[in-house]
Amino acid sequence: MKEPCTIVIFGATGDLARSKLLPALYHLEAAGRLPADTRIVASGRRDWSADDWHSKARQALSDKARGGLDEKVFSRFIERSEYFRGDLDNPELYRGLATLLSNRQRHPANTVFYMAVSPSAYGSIARQLHGAGLLRQNQGWRRIVVEKPFGFDLQSAEALQQQLVRFLQEEQIYRIDHYLGKGTVQNILVFRFGNVLMEPLWNRNYIDHVQITHAEPQGVGSRAGFYDHTGAMRDMVQSHLLQLLTFVAMEAPVSMAAESLHDEKIKVLRSIRPMDLEHLQRYAVRARYGRGTVANHSAKGYLEEPGVDPDSRTETYAALKLHIDNWRWSGVPFYLRTGKRLAEKQSMVAICFKHPPQQFFRASHIQCEANNWLLMGIQPDECLRVEMTVKTPGLEMATRRTVLDASYRREDEVANDAYEELLLDILKGDRSLFLSYREVKSAWRVVDPVLQGWAAQNRPLAEYAAGSWGPTEADALFDCDCHFWRNSPELMS
Ligand code: BG6
Repeated sequence: MKEPCTIVIFGATGDLARSKLLPALYHLEAAGRLPADTRIVASGRRDWSADDWHSKARQALSDKARGGLDEKVFSRFIERSEYFRGDLDNPELYRGLATLLSNRQRHPANTVFYMAVSPSAYGSIARQLHGAGLLRQNQGWRRIVVEKPFGFDLQSAEALQQQLVRFLQEEQIYRIDHYLGKGTVQNILVFRFGNVLMEPLWNRNYIDHVQITHAEPQGVGSRAGFYDHTGAMRDMVQSHLLQLLTFVAMEAPVSMAAESLHDEKIKVLRSIRPMDLEHLQRYAVRARYGRGTVANHSAKGYLEEPGVDPDSRTETYAALKLHIDNWRWSGVPFYLRTGKRLAEKQSMVAICFKHPPQQFFRASHIQCEANNWLLMGIQPDECLRVEMTVKTPGLEMATRRTVLDASYRREDEVANDAYEELLLDILKGDRSLFLSYREVKSAWRVVDPVLQGWAAQNRPLAEYAAGSWGPTEADALFDCDCHFWRNSPELMS
């Protein structure tokens, strides 16, 4: 049940708040989904007056509001929000907040603290909130929200967890992976567990291999400060891509409740074969973008981007071949890849089925050799398609490829942003689409050996041209020449 609450956003003047959180709250306001009396306290370091806050919020929302800014919705949104200046390192901020939030006429006792700030600040914010008595749950609940990556590796994740659990119970911590808020990602579970059709085929007997791709044409942009210390493996693989893998590979949970889902996802992560040094050479590829052309414009190489260390060894592309050593998936490779400055925006899961056991139509002009594919487009193409071979009409025994289309969204249906759903879940206290610490730990166990292996290697990073589909080395991850990366869910000719 959603009860009124106060949502405090730390880092409210930053990128995440501007591009995701404020628009998501605005859209919830527009849809009438924010409980009455809910208040938003936007906290940042900048010295903004109430008028500054209004005009900054207007600017951010004008850019992002679906169908343009609706003045009535905007004034309701502004009515329930306020700006509160403060420095995260200064105890004054937390004392001031405690005074502000203690006014029960204005601020509901239930409180969410959203940390839209650098992960390095999470521990200290939790400590200071505790110091100011802001985490006490004697009147209402208190929840904190943290973004990924949770930690920098297994060890630092453990240290961060220890800092948080000194002051909070696990149930109060909402670790966001915004991919789980995407309707197309949730649809993977619905497709698998809301239908019986695929389940008999969903295993090593029928599936040849699975590919999970996240590609984006953007470069590092203004985020070099974060990204150059993080890299593609921590930024995307450790969280979003491994989460997608768990959705594809997990067993049916006992229920859709948080704990049941977490349990099944953890089992998958634990079944991933650890990468040793010998396998690292064959099963892991990293690279960074060099100069190239993206959408007909020339693009800089990563090392030329503002804020990037000229001696940087950070990867902007990572690809892995993983094996899940369990009964269902033994022998089925899972290929994961992600990269910045690639040819186009494309996130999808592509499942390649095995060939039919006999090629009956070999004697005719039939392309029986084409595999069936199941393509789940996450974005921008929000689709779910199965590629099949069918007979071509006519007197000849000839075939062609066609698709069964069960696409996720009709054009006239609204595309909600992932943060809208996740924010609502936080208000409801539903943790099923958030990461448990055990899950985060299991994901680091998969990624850490690769990161350590790479750090120990003294080899130059492979390069790929900006605007390409990544380094050729990633093609060598496949077992045979007949396998190739699917770059699009469009029907192959
Ligand atoms: C974020 C990463 O978590 O996800 C970014 O930090 C990345 O580097 C982004 O660009 C991709 O998200 P989406 O929703 O645009 O696919």
